[in-house]
Amino acid sequence: MQTPQFRFRRLRRTSALRRMVRETELTCADFILPIFVEEGIDEPVAIASMPGVVRYPEAQLASVVKRAAAAGIPAVLLFGVSQHKDAVGSDTFADDGLLARMIKIAKAAAPEITVISDNCFCEYTDHGHCGVVADNDVDNDATLVNLQRQALVCAHAGVDMIAPSGMQDGMIAALREALDEAGFGHIPIMSYSTKFASAFYGPFRDAVDSTFKGTRNTYQMDPANAREALAESLQDEAEGADILMVKPALAYLDIVHQIAAHSERPVAVYHVSGEYAMIKAGAAAGVIDEQAIVMETMLSFKRAGADLIITYYAEQIAHWLSEHHV
Ligand code: PBG
Repeated sequence: MQTPQFRFRRLRRTSALRRMVRETELTCADFILPIFVEEGIDEPVAIASMPGVVRYPEAQLASVVKRAAAAGIPAVLLFGVSQHKDAVGSDTFADDGLLARMIKIAKAAAPEITVISDNCFCEYTDHGHCGVVADNDVDNDATLVNLQRQALVCAHAGVDMIAPSGMQDGMIAALREALDEAGFGHIPIMSYSTKFASAFYGPFRDAVDSTFKGTRNTYQMDPANAREALAESLQDEAEGADILMVKPALAYLDIVHQIAAHSERPVAVYHVSGEYAMIKAGAAAGVIDEQAIVMETMLSFKRAGADLIITYYAEQIAHWLSEHHV
């Protein structure tokens, strides 16, 4: 009989040994919970394609944020579903608009939690695009001016971090400059730096803007491009982004790995609505073990190089982590 050259199984023999050599760990501190708030509703509205995720009335935001903080989640990411849409999303740069109100409510509810605003226009424009539309396309530089106004409203409302998601060129430089000039040099920017034009956003669009019928192919990235994906994130780092992000997550682990290898900034991934919906559908069909699949998926993000994970599962994961010590 031939003796194996090396016995890897020696360190797999007991649970304690396996824990000792585990390379990647998940903790509550890794997670960011996205929250949807809709204007003008009194009760939570279920999102059919995302079982377990709801749009909350503004009056319930405080308790949702408190619950997340109590579960040990360090940050929430706020999305508004506006009833005051117009061509440019001006509600987002009004001091009493939905975005500003959500920030104030969340901050007051749990001062210790990191309140992050999703800085975009698509949920606040009547056409559903992520900025000012001219000649059937988003006007990059006109959108930057509005993004600056929006960011200052968020800063004045007390936001802890802004997260621009519109994939406009130069958005980080423009936002950094606006914040710094207004005395908000301490507010970090988490950039949706490499965001793909992805079919995995389908359920989110159900969740927030069912009217949008177009594509975002002229500003979000082509899923085929890896070199450009790295360049996008490195450009945002050069412009001053504090945290880089890849979105979606699971189908883009090669990109996460590349960015983590080439940048000194923390890297976040966004486990998006379609990824969430697929696990839920598989679990409902009885073909996968939901908890095991979720935890293995989250581990894959960290193993690839992500430091932070934005996921609709955040609260559930915090509970699973507190129950489990194996
Ligand atoms: C747009 C935006 C998108 C998501 C959040 N903000 C993508 C899009 O509609 O293009 C997707 C989030 C998800 O799918 O979970 N600024």
